[in-house]
Amino acid sequence: MNRRTIIDSSEHHNKAEAFEAFDDIPTNPNLGNTIGDVVNRRYGRREVMRGALAVTATTALFGSTALSTGRARAESGADRFVFDELSWGNDETHHIAEGYDANVLIRWGDPIFPDVADFDPMNQSAEDQLQRFGYNNDYVGFVELEPGRGVLCVNHEYTNEEVMFPGLGRQDRADFEGMTAEIVDIEMAAHGGSIFEIARNGDGVWQVVLDSPYNRRIHPGTEMRIDGPAAGHARMQTGADPSGTQVFGTINNCAGGITPWGTYLMAEENFHGYFWTDTVDGEGDPDVSQMAQAASFERYGVPGRWYAWGQYHERFNIDAEPNEPNRFGYIVEVDPLDPESVPVKHTALGRFRHEGSESIIAPSGQVVVYSGDDNRFDYVYKFVSAGVVGDDRSANMQLLSEGTLYVARYDDDGTFEWLPLVQGEGPLTAENGFETQGDVLIDTRMAADLLGATPMDRPEDIEPRADGSVFVMLTNNTRREEANATNPRPDNAFGHILQMNEAGGDHAALSGTWDILVQCGDPTIDDVGAVWNPETSENGWFASPDNCAVDTAGRLWISTDQGGNWGRTGKSDGLYSLETEGELRGHAKLFFRCPVGGELCGPYFADNDQTLFLAVQHPGTDGTSDFAGFERASTFEDPATRWPDFVDNMPPRPSVVVVTKQGGGQIAV
Ligand code: FEO
Ligand code: CA
Ligand code: CA
Repeated sequence: MNRRTIIDSSEHHNKAEAFEAFDDIPTNPNLGNTIGDVVNRRYGRREVMRGALAVTATTALFGSTALSTGRARAESGADRFVFDELSWGNDETHHIAEGYDANVLIRWGDPIFPDVADFDPMNQSAEDQLQRFGYNNDYVGFVELEPGRGVLCVNHEYTNEEVMFPGLGRQDRADFEGMTAEIVDIEMAAHGGSIFEIARNGDGVWQVVLDSPYNRRIHPGTEMRIDGPAAGHARMQTGADPSGTQVFGTINNCAGGITPWGTYLMAEENFHGYFWTDTVDGEGDPDVSQMAQAASFERYGVPGRWYAWGQYHERFNIDAEPNEPNRFGYIVEVDPLDPESVPVKHTALGRFRHEGSESIIAPSGQVVVYSGDDNRFDYVYKFVSAGVVGDDRSANMQLLSEGTLYVARYDDDGTFEWLPLVQGEGPLTAENGFETQGDVLIDTRMAADLLGATPMDRPEDIEPRADGSVFVMLTNNTRREEANATNPRPDNAFGHILQMNEAGGDHAALSGTWDILVQCGDPTIDDVGAVWNPETSENGWFASPDNCAVDTAGRLWISTDQGGNWGRTGKSDGLYSLETEGELRGHAKLFFRCPVGGELCGPYFADNDQTLFLAVQHPGTDGTSDFAGFERASTFEDPATRWPDFVDNMPPRPSVVVVTKQGGGQIAV
């Protein structure tokens, strides 16, 4: 499906919306195998759709984790998140709860190396962009060097040409008329990641250290090594790389993770959107039906033709290089402490639209990495390493090369099972097209289809917690017609959050129990079917959970991405606390909100929770036709906001924001 079709769909009425929140049409052919509407069967939809009643129904159905694991304070019903919540709304700037500072640390275009001039958006070049912080900051991770000093790792997921470049506007995906080779190269240079040192100054304020030896840009031209079972596979080989083991760059790096040994994981999400073909049907849509890898291309939505890169760089044109898309859609591991190191694409963690890659050490010492496949009706995965984490950091950096990838099947009775994606086991045989483990990993989605994994409502970020629980953000899925147990609402416009409890509290376990933590949306509208703790205020409920974090106290925080649909709630995207324990389980409060048109990424707690990093992505773009008083698509010349600079001629700039408590101390304590 191409971007033009997406833009034409009735759900998305504004051409200036960031495409990332759209995702794609479902490509899972397996929808006949869904579990079925267990909630309807057992309780009837009407009851479940009624907010307060549904709290009872959900608890009765699936049990409340809180009853067994709550902390004393949570059990007593006290609010563990000590802050006064912000009022909801949407305007041109950001807002933070009273008593906190939210300062911009770095913006798109700010230098990350010494002796680089101030950013001038009227004089951009690819070479210049590579000296600067890239566009659309998403994941933020921090590796501490010593108290008050460390290395920040930030993903640059994608680009919004309409507010990056003068005179361009939103490009028509049919012809990309304004996309010159020069602009394409700047777009490419604004993708990838930024790694740079930050330190507190004498006043305790975090600042970028421009002359640090750690500073580095990762981009689509960065040389990388491919490892794991699919490395060298015939379908990984290209004209430029007959070995199938070396690849240039990484794209659409959405969320990610910092491993226990301090490396930076970059998840490749909507990689399909960057591939091109000149083979289009009468409607101008890509036609891969006659291509050698047609089934795989169709299951992955390759080529998306969202960007014009393939017009100038042959490797992004599948007519010329049909195997290049097989080399994207992985987890990339980067050592942020060695700027000369060659990043590694780990095929062992599978190929899909990886939203993120958060890891935790199991009792056995094995590392477990969770990752969602962000597409409607796609799956939840985890990887369990073969080896165990030890004191040798370089040995730890081999752990993601070998292990077992699993996909989740959720059952009606509130249990789940992890199904191994191992060649030769079950249906993953040569007769079914899986001759090697490399085949399984390149076509992970198709292997998971055969295993009977549960199709979900767009799995976004997944966060494990030390007690064996795992929180899964399911952002929305308006194309769901049939509910299933874990995705209980048809036409799920507002998303929900699933809690998984690994058996025995062991993240390497192969089964466990699950329940639904919240069903998002406005609890005062019966038809929405929202389920929140009744104490949740009009400020506290949210829609479309996307990224999340667990702080050192084990408390959960959620950031949202409603895309162009924020008009349905009237609320900007933001950061919310969400209680998981005790009487207040399901209670959310608003802590930070974005300027109009932005989604909130990060979040990342550092510095013993005294510092919180947030990433405001694509400010001024999403759904600005619903922004009262503006009511049109943003362009470079005419944006809905000029956040954070508010200077004439400077377009809105995606930026990382640092939150600290006034006077110091831990956040929300
Ligand atoms: Fe890049 Fe699924 O958010
Ligand atoms: Ca995301
Ligand atoms: Ca998102």
